[in-house]
Amino acid sequence: MVSGRAANRKGTHIMRIIRAKDYADMSRKAANIISAQVILFPKSVLGLATGSTPVGVYRVLTDWYEKGDIDFSKVRTVNLDEYCGISPDHEQSYRYFMNQNFFNHVNIDKANTYVPDGLAADYEQECIRYENLITGLGGTDLQLLGLGHDGHIGFNEPGKSFIPLTHKAVLSRRTIEANARFFGDASKVPQYAVTMGIRTIMKAPRIVMVVSGEDKAGILWQTVNGPITPDVPASVIQLHTDAVVVADEAALKLFPSAD
Ligand code: F6R
Repeated sequence: MVSGRAANRKGTHIMRIIRAKDYADMSRKAANIISAQVILFPKSVLGLATGSTPVGVYRVLTDWYEKGDIDFSKVRTVNLDEYCGISPDHEQSYRYFMNQNFFNHVNIDKANTYVPDGLAADYEQECIRYENLITGLGGTDLQLLGLGHDGHIGFNEPGKSFIPLTHKAVLSRRTIEANARFFGDASKVPQYAVTMGIRTIMKAPRIVMVVSGEDKAGILWQTVNGPITPDVPASVIQLHTDAVVVADEAALKLFPSAD
């Protein structure tokens, strides 16, 4: 395991693990990477994630925007996923989440921010449209990921094979239970979502995964050190040539401490 070294200079598939002290430190470190991307390439296409973990990253980026350090005016964004059957103004929709936690607070043009349509009349068509939209943007330059307790990325749930492209996914029981906290009750959590596929995600030249908390320690270990298997969809990022995991001490509990 490599910690904090530029391990992929020769294109070898070694993930970089960036050890953060705590959630705030993880958020700042990941925000630094995203900020560097936007400063170097103001027209970047950022692949974004929702969930609890990246909230701090969005807060830090907002803070730096307010200080005048980052300009999002030319940035385009594509989100990983959206629940099926809920409208963009539903408080638990991922569009609403993105607006509330990030887009409303920075100078991004909302017309340049994309989230799958949770109310599409035909989800098969919506998946094709979204995949084509990402291709039309030239793909993402950097993909931010969280890590599900069952090893999902986006809503690519454990299964028999990796599903390559944007598709309608059935949420696992574990994911529904994990997300019940947002809906008040597991029965209210949508059972389906539109999600980018594994190839869509892996095509980003850089992946930044944020992971926080002891409850993610086991799945983070499997993601980084376990077999690459669709049973742990996140394990596929071991094959990426520029995947960076920014995790706090609690999530890295099972990893030997830094050199
Ligand atoms: C959300 C997403 C999910 C989350 C994952 C972890 O867009 O893609 O894969 O990243 O469920 O969620 P949290 O951060 O809430 O533990």
